[in-house]
Amino acid sequence: MNFTFHTTPEIIFREGASAELGALAAGRFKRPIFLTDKGLIEHGLVGPALESLKAAGLNVLLFDDVAADPPEVKVIEAVDAARKHEADGVIGFGGGSSMDTAKVVAVLLQSRQTLHDILGTDQVTEKRSPLVLCPTTAGTGSEVTSISVITSNDDEKVAVVDNALYPDMAVLDAGLTLGLPRPVTAATGIDAMVHAIEAYTNIHRKNPVSDALARNALRLLAGNIVTACEKPDDRNARSAMLLGAMLAGQAFANSPVGAVHGLAYPLGGIFHIPHGLSNSLMLEPVLKFNAPNAAHHYAELADVIAPGATGDDEARCAHFIKSLIEIVATTGVERRLSQLGISHNDLPRMAEDAMKVQRVLQNNPRKVTYDDALSMYTEVL
Ligand SMILES: NC(=O)c1ccc[n+]([C@@H]2O[C@H](COP(=O)([O-])OP(=O)(O)OC[C@H]3O[C@@H](n4cnc5c(N)ncnc54)[C@H](O)[C@@H]3O)[C@@H](O)[C@H]2O)c1
Ligand SMILES: [Fe+2]
Repeated sequence: MNFTFHTTPEIIFREGASAELGALAAGRFKRPIFLTDKGLIEHGLVGPALESLKAAGLNVLLFDDVAADPPEVKVIEAVDAARKHEADGVIGFGGGSSMDTAKVVAVLLQSRQTLHDILGTDQVTEKRSPLVLCPTTAGTGSEVTSISVITSNDDEKVAVVDNALYPDMAVLDAGLTLGLPRPVTAATGIDAMVHAIEAYTNIHRKNPVSDALARNALRLLAGNIVTACEKPDDRNARSAMLLGAMLAGQAFANSPVGAVHGLAYPLGGIFHIPHGLSNSLMLEPVLKFNAPNAAHHYAELADVIAPGATGDDEARCAHFIKSLIEIVATTGVERRLSQLGISHNDLPRMAEDAMKVQRVLQNNPRKVTYDDALSMYTEVL
């Protein structure tokens, strides 16, 4: 068994840690840019972190204009702002959108490469600036992945994948997630569950470490997502979700995602449906489509989310899919594309765009054709 495993070198997981960000990050930079979005400022989450950075003597520039599913123009704006400030480091504070923007800013800040030069896999050739990430959703796991997902000017989800994108430090403070609204808790938590499931069924890079992480992640996430939705102040559930999302991130950074993400990307790129919700919409049809080839692995995951399931692989696989979809339904997320304004006429373009995401489709346990994609979209219309 040969494999390579990478992750973020320093991880601090402690409630309250974000209010000590200054002390934790001091020494890494003097003039950082702090990237976040306006929603987080409105929720009052940014203040304590920012104050602690100032108290540590850092000359910090607040950039609060990160957009969801970061469009490339917005990312370039952030790079320009960082250069104007003569930043010597980057802090990403928020959900995947803020952290992914921060990763690209840290790579481009001191570099002669452009965003287009670094798109794709292993294209970063110059040194990245110091980078600290602090997640506020329990979802993407971006704080421990080597990936940044950007929306191109053609509304396609493109990615920078390079080990340079692992930050120097991740600071995880479950207290930040206590106020996450129910739809965001549900969608981001389902995204994290999909990371774990797809890491576990990757046909090329699944390995014993990603497997152990994926199983533990799924146990924590499936066991706590409903409580986190129904009792938003439950600190144990919030902490379990944040940890689960991070473990799932570590798993899929080393054993990347498959067709749920591949078919979800056009929903984000074209219709700006939140990433987690896009994934939750495509989850059931893709799991059922994959079942003939992935029954054994799904059966193993049944033992994680629904212990006591009996029977052969096919029976336990069916039990896994049923249990998972029950959990998803209980969170209350939308289940149909038509609920989000998508019509029958949109499906061919979505299937065409999905076919372009071979980066992830190639990992899927079953080959997905254009016709397969179209029929899965039709199934959830
Ligand atoms: N880099 C990776 O490894 C990776 C993995 C999966 C997804 N992604 C990308 O991440 C992005 C999605 O990230 P996301 O799902 O975390 O959402 P997000 O960053 O787009 O944030 C969604 C919304 O939630 C709000 N929010 C965030 N934290 C909050 C909190 N604690 N309290 C209240 N509101 C809060 C934000 O203000 C925003 O309005 C997509 O672009 C997706 O493609 C990246
Ligand atoms: Fe995801």
